[in-house]
Parts: sequence; C-alpha cells; structure tokens
Amino acid sequence: MIPSGRLLTGRPRLLVIYATEWGSTAGVAEAVADELRNGGAEVDLRAIGVAPSPALYDGVVVGGPMILGWHKDAVRYVASHRADLAGRPVAYFLTALSLTDTGEDDLDGIPLFADARLAKAPRRAGRLGLAERYARPRRYLRRVLGKAPLVRPVSVAFLGGSLNLMRLNSFQKLFVLLVVRASPRDARNWEEIHRWARELLPLLARRNGSLEESSP
Ligand SMILES: Cc1cc2nc3c(=O)[nH]c(=O)nc-3n(C[C@H](O)[C@H](O)[C@H](O)COP(=O)(O)O)c2cc1C
Repeated sequence: MIPSGRLLTGRPRLLVIYATEWGSTAGVAEAVADELRNGGAEVDLRAIGVAPSPALYDGVVVGGPMILGWHKDAVRYVASHRADLAGRPVAYFLTALSLTDTGEDDLDGIPLFADARLAKAPRRAGRLGLAERYARPRRYLRRVLGKAPLVRPVSVAFLGGSLNLMRLNSFQKLFVLLVVRASPRDARNWEEIHRWARELLPLLARRNGSLEESSP
C-alpha cells in the first residue's frame, strides 16, 4: 500500500476503461479515475466501445461487470490488445453481487483485492455449494486469463455492483436470483473503491512515475 506522505512525480498517463450493461459500472470507473487523478496521475476515462489503444498510456485499468462471466467487451478488449497490455502495468476490476471468500490473496501470483462487504466466507468450510463454487475468484477470471495469459495484472479487484430487477428479462432474472443468488440492491461501496484505487496508483505508475516524500 502507498505510505501516506508520498506523492507521485512524473505524472503517469493512465487509461481507465469500462464495460457496462445497465450503467452502474460507469460510476465505479469514474470513482477509480477520480482517485487516480487525486494522486497526481493524468487519467483518460472511456467507455470500452470508444477506448483507445493501451499503447498510448503508461498504465491501464479495465473494468466491467460479471454478467454470465466477466463482461464480454472487457474480455474482448484485453484479448485483442494483449500484446500492448502485456508490456505495461494493467489492473482489472469486476463488479459483482456475489463472491466467495476462498481466503486467497492472489491467484497464481496475481494480487487480488476483495470489497470487504462483497466477499462471503463459505457456509461450510472445505465443502463449497454450487453457487459458492461458481462465485470463486478463479472461476470469475478464468476466461480472461485463458484468452490473455501473458497479461499479468498488478491487481484484480472484486467490487460490489448494482442490480435492478425491473430492467431484466425473465432469463436474466432467473439466472441472477437462482444461480448467482444475488439480491437486488446497489452494493457499490465507494470507500472500498477509493481504497483500492489509492493502493493501485503506485503499482500502475511504476513505468514512468516515481514516488518521493512530500514536504510537510
Ligand atoms: C444476467 C446477469 C448475470 C449476472 N451474473 C453475475 C455473476 O455471475 N456474479 C455476480 O456476482 N453478479 C452477477 N450479476 C450482477 C451484475 O454483475 C451486477 O448487477 C453489475 O453491477 C451490473 O453492472 P452494470 O450496471 O454496469 O451493467 C449478474 C447480473 C445479471 C443481470
């Protein structure tokens, strides 16, 4: 974590992009971008459909919701830019309503961050139920890590999302209620989002930014 009393110099140029289906992940991405700016980075925030190439940036954050896997546009962006992303610091965030706390701090060396309100310990240790197995970090990341194995994020965050049943069709409702076992609510946790983004900045800024002590 970044020690307090330190500032960034060299103003790293960062890109924050997000996929969304119903809009709530845009607010999460905005909060991440704001926090990175507050820490001294120059940040471009873009919807994934109009996102530029990562090659123009020192570091990239890719965010998106869990909708039958990590949002297809987020996976597609990472897969199609994997060569550029592999060469610079990258972070992912996934908005979700269910996450099994498996006790892992990393996934094969990739550091994980879990929103404290989202992650739930299994009901019976050592014997996960179906929904608990489904909501494991490894399962959520399987597709993107499979499609772009050489992109090794400096951090992956699982953050609370938001769900409004009124906007879903019958299949979506059944899936989210019965398989994900989510309850409809706005579970975005702004404190945790800002905390993650603060911790992230020095990791993303490694390439051209440097840290120095601020004067009192
Ligand atoms: C069809 C559907 C599938 C979903 N799948 C998952 C899931 O697998 N795991 C999870 O934690 N949340 C799941 N969710 C909840 C969404 O990730 C959450 O509502 C998200 O914040 C929506 O983001 P958006 O408003 O940016 O589209 C699902 C929601 C829907 C409607």
